[in-house]
Amino acid sequence: MDTIAILDFGSQFSQLIARRVREAQVYCELFPWDAPQKTVMAIQPKGFILSGGPDSVYEAGAPRLADYILNSGLPILGICYGMQALTLALGGKVGAAAKREYGFAEIDTDVENPLLPTGSRKVWMSHGDRIEQPPEGFLIICRSTHSPIAAIYDENRQYYGVQFHPEVRHTPGGEEILRRFVVDICRAQPAWTPESIIKQGVENIRRQVGDQTVLSAISGGVDSAVATALVQRAIGDQLTAIFVDTGLLRQNEAAQVQSALQKTLGVELVVVDAVDSFLHALRGVNEPEEKRRIIGELFIRTFEKYAKQLGKPPFLVQGTIYPDVVESSAPDRAKAHRIKTHHNVGGLPSDLNFKLIEPLRYLFKDEVRLVGEALGLPAELVWRQPFPGPGLAVRCLGEVTLERVQRLRAADAIFTEELTAAGLLRMHQSGDAPSGTAQAFAVLLPVQSVGVMGDHRTYQECVALRAVTTEDFMTADWARLPHDLLARIANRIVNEVAGVNRVVYDITSKPPATIEWE
Ligand code: XMP
Repeated sequence: MDTIAILDFGSQFSQLIARRVREAQVYCELFPWDAPQKTVMAIQPKGFILSGGPDSVYEAGAPRLADYILNSGLPILGICYGMQALTLALGGKVGAAAKREYGFAEIDTDVENPLLPTGSRKVWMSHGDRIEQPPEGFLIICRSTHSPIAAIYDENRQYYGVQFHPEVRHTPGGEEILRRFVVDICRAQPAWTPESIIKQGVENIRRQVGDQTVLSAISGGVDSAVATALVQRAIGDQLTAIFVDTGLLRQNEAAQVQSALQKTLGVELVVVDAVDSFLHALRGVNEPEEKRRIIGELFIRTFEKYAKQLGKPPFLVQGTIYPDVVESSAPDRAKAHRIKTHHNVGGLPSDLNFKLIEPLRYLFKDEVRLVGEALGLPAELVWRQPFPGPGLAVRCLGEVTLERVQRLRAADAIFTEELTAAGLLRMHQSGDAPSGTAQAFAVLLPVQSVGVMGDHRTYQECVALRAVTTEDFMTADWARLPHDLLARIANRIVNEVAGVNRVVYDITSKPPATIEWE
């Protein structure tokens, strides 16, 4: 399989570059800019992409372009800082722009080249420094008002540099620029498809496992379901999956996962009804981190008990996906402070001493979904919005009781139903503005307020609706849902869900708020 290596110079968009390349059906991996040559060259790349970054090339200790990349003779595309690092390494000049350029810019490409079509186009800029003089052998192919040198090109060596960010959605047609680089210029075969991912995954799993037995912990999430389905495809009944029903899933979710895995795919599924023990353990607990800790620990204990009963197979399936892997090896600056313990229920600690099978380790979320569909999992399961490991417990503010969870679940189901009917349960890109929702859910507040129903005074709880647009979940904006739709949802919740007499809509972005309320 042909591959591309992306060197991460610390940009917040580095993962997006990798996603766009994968969308062009070319396999790529992301490496820290200073990763050892051996590690990077092990994937036998057909070309390099250098990401942007927050530094200035002349700062002491600023990330540099390694010599082996230039000596490889392979095509290189430098984006923003990557273009500046390339320029510096080849003897060109980089300088501070008089004014930081941030936002949309109009560029004009006036030289024929294989990367950018000639003519003017809108792009997204975000840079302080800029190229003052390209290295010898380079042509200036494109200009903008604030960047007289917005793109450069060396035909002999097939080196390209762009000052703007083709990887962000704000650059219309940016994905085509990246596709041209990887497919037309690097000549990487676009062979990275769900079918090829499955074929390769199946071979790897068979080689790793042989005729031994494997266990999987199903949490209700998409990743563990797809990982389990893939392992099932590889080794059939050598696999047993344990599904712990915590009682904290959304409406119909537990039944949906069971039926998809057991009935549709024939996975041997051990369903553990642990609803009572989870509710019991959460009794009287209000504090969010305490809820997470209790749920995580009880999940592990429950899982351990059933694993023992099954004679503790040597292998365990984990639904680790590529962003988790990249974030744990990213340059320090990119490692986020811990705001919440995002442990995954289903993510089991290493002291259980299993050998791990992580078949989704190199996949982005969208790829996981496509693989899930290709494996025969139903679309409504595979395309479900993200859901936190601790489930409804962190959306049921205050104490988690059966009655309150049921109330929340009912309100959430109405919200989801109405969004589905309006076609807004997914993100859509229309022009520059995203529409729809990346995540939308109800939150039950431990706040009572006065209302009037018929002629009666009510004193009941309040539901907050949260709906956001985002691509990466690190930042998010509140979704501008149509007022009439919000009115209908509020009306239905108050009328159909006993114990709720008020609905509010959350209009904070992340930051400063987070997506979940706890
Ligand atoms: P926040 O609330 O931090 O959430 O803005 C960002 C994304 O992460 C999800 N989330 C979790 N996912 N375990 C998970 O697997 C967790 O404990 C957890 N907490 C939040 C959240 O739903 C959002 O998509």
